[in-house]
Amino acid sequence: MRQFFPVEDLARDERFVQTNMAERMKDGRTALELKESSAKSRGASKRLTPDRHDASDAARGLMHGIMVGEIQALEGAGRTAHDFATGDGTSDTVPFELKLDMARQAWDEARHVEISAKLSDWMGTELGEFAENTVLFEAACSNDPILRLAGVNRALEGLAIDVFTQMKEFGDIAGDPYLEFCEDWMLADEVTHVKMGSDWLRKVTANDPDRRSKALEFQQVVDKLFSFGGARGESEESSFSLATRFRELAGFTDDEVKTISEMDAEALAERRAQVLAYREKVGADAPA
Ligand SMILES: [Fe+2]
Ligand SMILES: [Fe+2]
Repeated sequence: MRQFFPVEDLARDERFVQTNMAERMKDGRTALELKESSAKSRGASKRLTPDRHDASDAARGLMHGIMVGEIQALEGAGRTAHDFATGDGTSDTVPFELKLDMARQAWDEARHVEISAKLSDWMGTELGEFAENTVLFEAACSNDPILRLAGVNRALEGLAIDVFTQMKEFGDIAGDPYLEFCEDWMLADEVTHVKMGSDWLRKVTANDPDRRSKALEFQQVVDKLFSFGGARGESEESSFSLATRFRELAGFTDDEVKTISEMDAEALAERRAQVLAYREKVGADAPA
């Protein structure tokens, strides 16, 4: 079977519409996004709660994003189980137990794909109604398996922990037990996936500080890409919070949690500055 599968070759039928991080970042934040941020920053909370005026579309879009993320997580874990020879973890090899963890993860993700597809259907969404951002699989294309674990398991599945915690709460407040329980079960699996990333990163790089810092650097780059202009944080302007306790359980140190939280705050400050500049450009009283 072929090894090292590029993102362009992912098998998708005509229902899927794909986009990637480069596309999304090309023009920076669009005028529409800034207009929305500008409107929301005039008092309205951005928290994903059922009383938000666009709660239904926001929750459906997020759920669709989760579903395609689950597909890519399945593909990424499967690739990592297959792409590297079995060995002691040095050079291009991975320990056999790491492969077993990836196989276990692929099994979990396959279940998550089914759950998320059914939840999306339940919420009234059609497959392909929202674009599929392929960044997760792109992070799983590194030639170094430890970078894959840092970028996917720790950065992106760490983000999944935060998002699932919010979706679970959303289901609870909205009175939707299906959404609440499904998110809770998937959340439990994600904590184990992130923990796998934390444990293997530390184990395999125990005697290779350069490789470890390269992996942590990659993790931070991915984290930063997804700080979402301040979407994660404790402010009312943020959609969801950093799930500190679950991150601790998943092997994040206090310092690591603090760094992510600082990065989120920086991203929010950046967004505020962009919104202010946008308002100055179009006039403070421009209709939202
Ligand atoms: Fe998952
Ligand atoms: Fe996962």
